Amino acid sequence: MDSYVVIGNPIGHSRSPQIHQSFAQATAQIMSYERLLAPLDAFEQSVRNFMQQGGKGANITVPFKEQAFAMADVLTPRAQRAGAVNTFKFEDNGCILGDNTDGAGLVLDLKRLSVQLSGQRILLLGAGGAARGALAPLLAEQPTQLVIANRTLTKAQQLAALFADLGEVQACSFDQLQQPFDLIINATSASLSGELPALSPACITTQHTQCYDMMYGAEITAFNQWALAQGAAQVMDGLGMLVAQAAEAFQLWRGVLPNNLNEVLTSLRKTLTH
Ligand code: ATR
Repeated sequence: MDSYVVIGNPIGHSRSPQIHQSFAQATAQIMSYERLLAPLDAFEQSVRNFMQQGGKGANITVPFKEQAFAMADVLTPRAQRAGAVNTFKFEDNGCILGDNTDGAGLVLDLKRLSVQLSGQRILLLGAGGAARGALAPLLAEQPTQLVIANRTLTKAQQLAALFADLGEVQACSFDQLQQPFDLIINATSASLSGELPALSPACITTQHTQCYDMMYGAEITAFNQWALAQGAAQVMDGLGMLVAQAAEAFQLWRGVLPNNLNEVLTSLRKTLTH
């Protein structure tokens, strides 16, 4: 049986086995998918051991995505752009293909939610790994404007420069923003500590602006709560992105995109709240 793992540290909380097992069932694929805890100083060795046992592929999560990027023999263009790898495919010749499905997962989820991207004014909050992974897939949708806002302005500027060849990208700090956007995507990790990016309410037009927080949890995230209080038309969290990035990885491994994303999302949401 073809076997796959999700590698991270910690890893006990990962929902990926549940997601991939549901995909396998829906597409009649015979495969196993488990969690693999790698010691913080032995990511590469853990990957090599799994390959030796016949592993076919892996998802990589915190804190190993940059190490995975360095370890891959071949990178997909989107992984190259993201500067991080969340999916390995182990080729029959022993080569490690590194991919990044996070940004594609975000766009797939936004489309599932019927959020328009082309011709829209998009504000991306944050300039870390999560923001970087989202940039190329977002720009491919041809928004009219894409602004990266970050607490540390220089990081937003560096990111904007890295992606300038793909479209119109601007960088700014939070206090420079006083204009409305159609879509605001929170890619900061502020919600993790229950904090909020210092964003002006002027960025939200009542009953028009849609907000997407890449974070998720049993309760509404701090950012989405704030956005609703400012009159946002709709708030969405990142649970759908988690499912969609997994679907993109599954497609890379198995050659088929699962079509049960909504069902998987519904059952996952239940396990979060119960
Ligand atoms: P990730 O891989 O999740 O993107 P990261 O690379 O550590 O994590 O980046 C975290 C992002 O969240 C950064 O953009 C960070 O801003 P700084 O570059 O200024 O550090 C942002 N962030 C974290 N906590 C924040 C807060 N309380 N308010 C605003 N931005 C915050």
